[in-house]
Amino acid sequence: MHIEFGSQIRKVLVIGLGQLGLPVAKYVKERGFETFGYDINPGRMEDAEKSFGIKSIDKFDEIDVFILCVSTHDPNDEYTPFVDGLFSLAQKISREAKNGSLVSIESTIPKGTSKKIFELLNHRLHVAHAPHRWYSLEEDIHGVNQVRVIGGVSDCCLKVALQFYDSGNEALEFDDDTITKNTSNSRRITSLGIPMHPVSEIEIAELTKIIENADRYMQIAFSEDLYLYCQANNVNFSELRDSLNTKWNVNILEPRDGVGGHCLPKDTKMFLQSSKSIKSKILMAAMEVDNDYRRFREMRGYRMVPSAINNHK
Ligand SMILES: NC(=O)c1ccc[n+]([C@@H]2O[C@H](COP(=O)([O-])OP(=O)(O)OC[C@H]3O[C@@H](n4cnc5c(N)ncnc54)[C@H](O)[C@@H]3O)[C@@H](O)[C@H]2O)c1
Repeated sequence: MHIEFGSQIRKVLVIGLGQLGLPVAKYVKERGFETFGYDINPGRMEDAEKSFGIKSIDKFDEIDVFILCVSTHDPNDEYTPFVDGLFSLAQKISREAKNGSLVSIESTIPKGTSKKIFELLNHRLHVAHAPHRWYSLEEDIHGVNQVRVIGGVSDCCLKVALQFYDSGNEALEFDDDTITKNTSNSRRITSLGIPMHPVSEIEIAELTKIIENADRYMQIAFSEDLYLYCQANNVNFSELRDSLNTKWNVNILEPRDGVGGHCLPKDTKMFLQSSKSIKSKILMAAMEVDNDYRRFREMRGYRMVPSAINNHK
């Protein structure tokens, strides 16, 4: 199975039009692709159409690229990983999509998920994983087009995905059914123009995302640990932190209300669950520290700020 960029990539469907999927769809449309949206929540599709002219679609047979941005937490517990929605979506794509299209998973997923999706697609479509680093509070600098890691289930999946995403690709132009470079009377189409960091195994891409969030979790937990130490030993935490951070390679964070948002706990769990034999002791300790810190705050009756504000990026 082989897909040449340009001759086929025109119609892009973003699935999951939530906090992440909506700016992704908007960006893809701005780059000149014919962009569609799909969400199990009809209200999300209406909003996307009204706000950004993203057309809704139910049938998947003409789509060249599927970008999956669906949630990957348990609907009843936002801290628990859950990929069943992604798998049922893969089954729908498998039934309806044409051969050779690209399925790019941008949601955060546990190690091994991309290959399971490739199986569900009966090896008929290309599968890549390009996890997001999008950050809602600093969308201008940490938005859709910041540097991203990308992996493919096979070399040709990676190649097709890089042609779609990578800022290193030349602009291509198309008229009607053929795409050629620099023809007149043709509409200009480019790649998504995102600087990508390709990796040789798709599991590296899966792990990169969940470990970067686990790393953030650990840094916050260390600041909580220091804070509890200071409370127990009558030391001024703020002054200690300021003084520590005068060193070039030290960056102690603020503990605030504890590890904020649902992504850091969820993704840290995804990483811990990715190994049956050996679990990261330091991360398990970090989770314990976060629990202790939260209990301490509750006992002191501290006001909790909304998690979006406390969302440690
Ligand atoms: N929001 C962020 O800042 C951010 C950053 C990086 C990565 N991520 C990851 O991106 C993914 C999406 O996060 P989000 O914050 O946009 O979530 P969200 O809850 O805001 O949006 C998810 C959307 O997916 C839809 N959906 C769920 N299951 C579906 C299905 N089977 N078919 C179609 N639509 C479905 C939901 O209706 C919802 O509109 C998650 O894996 C998250 O970890 C999010």
